[in-house]
Amino acid sequence: MQTPRRVEHELTDKGYVPVYTTAVVEQPWDSYSPEDHDTWAQLFQRQQEILRGRACAEFLDNQRRMGMTANAIPKFADLNVHLQAATGWKLIAVEGLLPELTFFEHLAAREFPVTWWIRKPEQIDYISEPDLFHDLYGHVPLLMNPIFANYMQAYGAGGVRASTFGNEPLTNLTRLYWYTVEFGLINTPEGPRIYGAGILSSKGESIHSLESATPNQIGFDVRRVMRTRYRIDSYQKTYFVIDSFEQLFKATVDPDFGPIYYDLKGAESIPAGNVLDSDRVYQRGTGEGWPTDADV
Ligand SMILES: [Fe+2]
Repeated sequence: MQTPRRVEHELTDKGYVPVYTTAVVEQPWDSYSPEDHDTWAQLFQRQQEILRGRACAEFLDNQRRMGMTANAIPKFADLNVHLQAATGWKLIAVEGLLPELTFFEHLAAREFPVTWWIRKPEQIDYISEPDLFHDLYGHVPLLMNPIFANYMQAYGAGGVRASTFGNEPLTNLTRLYWYTVEFGLINTPEGPRIYGAGILSSKGESIHSLESATPNQIGFDVRRVMRTRYRIDSYQKTYFVIDSFEQLFKATVDPDFGPIYYDLKGAESIPAGNVLDSDRVYQRGTGEGWPTDADV
């Protein structure tokens, strides 16, 4: 079997640009080197220690239930046995970033795309695009949770529909994904805990999102989130806190996204660090050291 390509960003005269790919491949498990497995083990162990008491219980419990360990890069086929039984989701191996619509279509079909390759040892602390560690370690355990799994499918279906409505709905949806699936916090009796994969796969942000006085922590509201810009080059200025995964799922179906886009049509976007009078504030950030240039 031929080893699939490793599709990464490219350096052009306009700087680094993302490169997209649509192929679904077989995970070339035999091609992982001892160094690849070691990178996985190091990242896994380090995050396990940091996330105890910081990640939500659903994440840590389901990670254990699916048999993800530091020992070796998991085989997607093994994880799929657990996923299929729990929620009917399936991991598919991809070569890198997918175009938006392709990504939505996979989610709508309960398929989660996972980049087959892992970062190099020199990228342990930072890589600009999703690799196997981010996708698998960060995103996959919560797909074992039936309600979160339904949210992800509803999000994908909403994305397929939104792509026929033009740019504004797509921007709204991207912000929702960013502030929930990637950078979401969930309220628990012990305080906020992490469920967003962008935080779960980052050593620094796992601590920053919960313990730093700098960022805002604000109660989740779907319209508020869809209007809020975000950072792609630094820690988030604001984290949105959900009460439960039910709340998240309900926001996508009740009402449907359609009326929400209608409400938000032409509404001004909100800078990433702003706090509104209508916000339910868990923490008002000090904003120390925030970049002052525009948010995405
Ligand atoms: Fe991600």
